[in-house]
Amino acid sequence: MVPETPQQGGQLARLFDAVSETYDAVGVDFFAPVAASLVRHLPPRAGESWLDVGCGRGAVIQQVADAIGPGGRVLGTDFSEGMVRQARRAVAASEFTNVEIVVDDAQDPQVALGSFTTLSSSLVLFFLPAPDSALRRWLPLLTPGGRLGITTFGPMDERWMHVDAVFEPYLPDSMRDARTTGAKGPFGSDEGMEGLVSDAGFSGVRSATDVVEVTFASAEQWHDFTWSVGQRAMWLAVPEDERASVRAEAERRLALVAAPDGSVTFRQAIRHTLAERPAG
Ligand SMILES: C[S@@+](CC[C@H](N)C(=O)[O-])C[C@H]1O[C@@H](n2cnc3c(N)ncnc32)[C@H](O)[C@@H]1O
Repeated sequence: MVPETPQQGGQLARLFDAVSETYDAVGVDFFAPVAASLVRHLPPRAGESWLDVGCGRGAVIQQVADAIGPGGRVLGTDFSEGMVRQARRAVAASEFTNVEIVVDDAQDPQVALGSFTTLSSSLVLFFLPAPDSALRRWLPLLTPGGRLGITTFGPMDERWMHVDAVFEPYLPDSMRDARTTGAKGPFGSDEGMEGLVSDAGFSGVRSATDVVEVTFASAEQWHDFTWSVGQRAMWLAVPEDERASVRAEAERRLALVAAPDGSVTFRQAIRHTLAERPAG
């Protein structure tokens, strides 16, 4: 899932194009609560200029645009044209007049330097081929003193990991890197993320953790969800004629932790890394 070459980056953008129609639209409350948690730690200010990098369908944008109001502006960027299309639709439906969404690569953003008072990025950094140099590129996009808020995953719910482990035998090495699950590298701890952000030149670096409860109404909804997010890549790694048996094993594992009504609730820790561009 972590792109190492431009070609793999292109494949990742196509993956998000493929999921964009159903992403955050299968009835599982996941991206909005994660974004709400970030926004609680990074409250929007009326009239400010906010950049949301890797905006997807706009989970963060939907929660800040009103508060920033017509005197400010929100720019969302994403390298998936499908996501950009869906985010624009959502913005039009919400009748926001202060939001623009454009195609842009988070690894090498082309937006104007020094023009944003806040930069947010929720569940994106671990997809980038070189998160450290991306953060160095993001720093000068902010005004001096401007705020940074990055959301990544904290330790995963072990019961959720047990279900997702059904994919393990099929995953190529590049998808085995557990950065997104918080087990290895800078994405594995508060300190790791704080080091990554301070090494990029940010000051006042600190962490905040929240827990988001994610409920799947049924095993079928879990299945729909997994196809509607980046995890789709895991299904694609399973040969077509083995997907039914993988799904059956996942359903067996889900049943072990299901409530009497068949629903399953996991608790996902969410890590926010907050910082500022030095004022001087
Ligand atoms: C897990 S989604 C999160 C989307 C959104 N921030 C949210 O919270 O719903 C990851 C997003 O990052 C985008 N993305 C991944 N790599 C990117 C890159 N190099 N440049 C821009 N966007 C990227 C994907 O297209 C996708 O929309």
